[in-house]
Order: sequence, then C-alpha cells, then structure tokens
Amino acid sequence: MPKIAITGKGGVGKTTLTALLSYVYAQRGQDVIAIDADPAGNLGLAFGLTAQMDAELKPIAEMESLIYERTGAQPGTIGGWFKLNPKVDDIPESFSLTHRGVRLLRLGTVRGGGAGCLCPENALLKALVTHLLLRKRQTLILDMEAGVEHLGRGTAGAVDAFLIVVEPGLRSLGTAGQIRGLAAEIGVKRIVLVANKVRSAQDEAFVRDQAAGLPLLGSLPFTAAAVAADQGGLAVFDQAPEMLAAAERIADALDTISP
Ligand SMILES: Nc1ncnc2c1ncn2[C@@H]1O[C@H](COP(=O)(O)OP(=O)(O)OP(=O)(O)O)[C@@H](O)[C@H]1O
Ligand SMILES: [Mg+2]
Repeated sequence: MPKIAITGKGGVGKTTLTALLSYVYAQRGQDVIAIDADPAGNLGLAFGLTAQMDAELKPIAEMESLIYERTGAQPGTIGGWFKLNPKVDDIPESFSLTHRGVRLLRLGTVRGGGAGCLCPENALLKALVTHLLLRKRQTLILDMEAGVEHLGRGTAGAVDAFLIVVEPGLRSLGTAGQIRGLAAEIGVKRIVLVANKVRSAQDEAFVRDQAAGLPLLGSLPFTAAAVAADQGGLAVFDQAPEMLAAAERIADALDTISP
C-alpha cells in the first residue's frame, strides 16, 4: 500500500491535501493512517474534528511517561544513554484516533535541538515513522512541514512518492526546488509537484513552466468552499466537492507511479 509524504512551503495546502487523499484512499477500502508530522500541525481540524476530539489527539513527542518507558530516558535529556530502537509497534493503534475511516496520529514537536537532536523523544519518533513506513498493508500519508526532518537516510527509500505542494507563484516553487534537493540527497525516489489554489489554465501552465523538471502530478482548484471549510472547522472533503474530485484524480495518478 502506498507510503506518501506531503511537503511544501507554509500555507500552500499540505494539510488540506493530506486530509483529501487520506479520505479518498479510505473510501477505496484501504487501511489508512494519516500522520501529522508538522510541529504546528492542525490535521485534525481538516478532518472536521471538534476542538474536544482534537485535544484528545495528544502528540507522541509530549508523552513523557511513554518516552521514558520505551527509551529508558526522560524527554529533554540530550546525550546520555537511551535506546535507539525502542518498541513502537503498538503505538499507532494505542495513541491514534480513528475518524471517518482514517487513523490519525500526531507526532508533535521535539523541544530543544529540533527534529535532528540526539534525544529520546526524537529516537522514539524516528523509530515510529520507520516502523510505519515498513508496514506493508497500510496506506500512509505523512503531513510534513517544509523539510525532510522526519525521514532519515535509511527510511527515505521506503517513501513511494514525495509530493511537494505548490501554489502558482515563484515563492512556493522556489521552496519546492530546495526541498527537492534535500529529498534527493537522503534517497527519496519519486518527487512530484501538486499545484493547489489553481484558478485558471494559465495558473497551471505557470507551474509547469517553472517546475524545473519536476513532474506535475495533478492540480487542485482554488475554491471558496475550502476557505469556508477551514473557517467553519469542517472537513474539507465534505465541503469542497471539486477538491475531492481533484484528489480522486491525484490518487489515480499516484497509483500509476507508485508500485
Ligand atoms: N484549493 C484551495 N482553495 C482555497 N483555499 C485553500 C485551498 N487549499 C487550501 N486552502 C486554504 O489555505 C489555507 C492553508 O491550507 P493548509 O492548512 O492545508 O496549508 P498547509 O500547507 O498545511 O499550511 P501550514 O504550512 O500552515 O501547515 C487554509 O485556510 C485552507 O483552507
Ligand atoms: Mg499544515
């Protein structure tokens, strides 16, 4: 089952696309896990979780006793001894929330030192992401910030497709170029663009022209319904049928490029 990482500049629509694709795959009968790997993540809201449900979806990085139990060290300790291969296989089922057929998991922020730090919470998150990427029967969609921090050299190859979301503008396309470099460096195989907030054929042509060789997998239209969904705290796939239809086409295109 496909393992897909979604990245791109801030505000381009990564979370929106994660919610749409996860829902599409779940509707197609797949066992889907959507992972919020953005430290400032709000994936739950894009699924229409109420504030109360969203609050129940606690970030793994903030589960101090779990981190201690699994790594043998308190979160926040840098250097010192901790397990680099903690047990994680039960975490996805125990600490996620299933909504609209999709399992949601929130990774949270590693305090101090960022995602690259040598600390127990980071070791746990890395082991968890690696474990999930290697699960054959589950479809995985990773909502990431503009970077590759949660993927190590060892696991990047397990990602079937790396989707960089862009808007029809030079700034997000510039960020896409930078992300592409980082992703290629750690061994990501397929890197493609998805254009979002497309208002016209010219917008799409602009992205193709400026893509610097990155293939354009598909486009999502700009729609007032997506804005309204965010304003109302409602699921984007319920509120914006044109977005859902576009996500169906993107899922079809993904099926043709991922094994
Ligand atoms: N196709 C679209 N048409 C109109 N508005 C959109 C569209 N896609 C996303 N938006 C709006 O743009 C905003 C940012 O979208 P989203 O949160 O998905 O982006 P993001 O890349 O995840 O942002 P962040 O970097 O903050 O995590 C939201 O208010 C969302 O509703
Ligand atoms: Mg987001």
